[in-house]
Amino acid sequence: MASDKISRVGIVGAGQMGAGIAEVCARADVDVLVHESSRDLVTAGRARILRSLDRGVSSGKLTEREREQASCRLRFTSDLDDFADRQLVVEAIVEDEDVKIDVFRALDKAVVDPDAILASNTSSIPIMKLGMATENAGRVIGMHFFNPVPVLPLVELITTLATSEDVSRRAESFAYDVLGKQVIRSADRSGFVVNALLVPYLLSAMRMVESGFATVDDIDKAMVLGCAHPMGPLKLTDLVGLDTVKAIADKMYEEFKEPLYSPPPLLLRMVEAGRLGKKAGRGFYRYD
Ligand code: CAA
Ligand code: NAD
Repeated sequence: MASDKISRVGIVGAGQMGAGIAEVCARADVDVLVHESSRDLVTAGRARILRSLDRGVSSGKLTEREREQASCRLRFTSDLDDFADRQLVVEAIVEDEDVKIDVFRALDKAVVDPDAILASNTSSIPIMKLGMATENAGRVIGMHFFNPVPVLPLVELITTLATSEDVSRRAESFAYDVLGKQVIRSADRSGFVVNALLVPYLLSAMRMVESGFATVDDIDKAMVLGCAHPMGPLKLTDLVGLDTVKAIADKMYEEFKEPLYSPPPLLLRMVEAGRLGKKAGRGFYRYD
């Protein structure tokens, strides 16, 4: 049985989610190596994590010393072969099955220890598809974090028909004991538990806007003031990213063929227009 102590982690991707996962790992005393595919993306990813650590200091959640210690635990690379000594790698790149399969194929070669865990933060791609890109699907698992990662306490764990029990146990222990996250388990079905419930709700809100049923502001106000949600569905879509919501909906529709998962034309047009939400400066709202 492999050692339970995971102290060297790799994160692939330093977008919103990869940066957040890297940050919580570094804050939990773990050595973190973050991969982005170019030097410019490394610079942007590093800045994203440092901004969030600064925010932690200004909101009183971190001391200056803790911020310094966390940033010293973070290193960056553009070469996946540098992940050779990692005990756990979490992939958090764009929600695109072909791109993720390529990365899992490369990780399988790069990460030397056969007991090292290869995890995906995918929102909707069945984990088995990623496992089958490797020679050892037993070490592949879904570890689905929530946005913003430093704030939301959940990780969904998704084991496949092939994931080994030891990998499943060690991934849960890392999420719970090391990162302090709550863990729920989901079957390996597109969307898992949270997005199977959340995404139809987000798409319904878009259909309401599309049909003139109510305005963006009023729909969001309704769910914040009427149901005590922290933000309304359209603001939440902007936070997640419209490209990501569309990719998730497409995958879930592909799996279940249910109209409730089918992305409405308004979402397609906004993605085509580059109105991808908060990260692009414009979605259902503007962010200047
Ligand atoms: N990083 C670190 N901390 C952050 C943060 C970030 N990116 N954003 C907010 N925070 C912290 C703030 O410091 C603040 O902490 P204190 O209360 O201790 O001061 C707290 O969170 C609240 O932040 P704000 O006052 O700035 O703003 P807010 O009250 O409007 O909260 C929010 C912002 C945390 C995003 C909140 O609106 C929220 O929880 N929204 C819902 C988010 C959600 O549902 N996420 C799930 C998306 S679905 C998903 O992730 C899965 C998928 O596959 C798509
Ligand atoms: P993002 O758009 O913020 O970042 C995308 C990342 O993918 C960046 O690191 C980018 O450099 C990388 N990337 C893009 N194209 C690539 C390519 N061809 N090859 C390699 N890397 C590439 O996206 P995000 O919101 O961080 O989402 C990342 C993953 O996390 C997705 O699988 C998404 O479904 C999942 N997720 C997202 C959320 C959310 O709320 N946004 C929540 C949970 C899980």
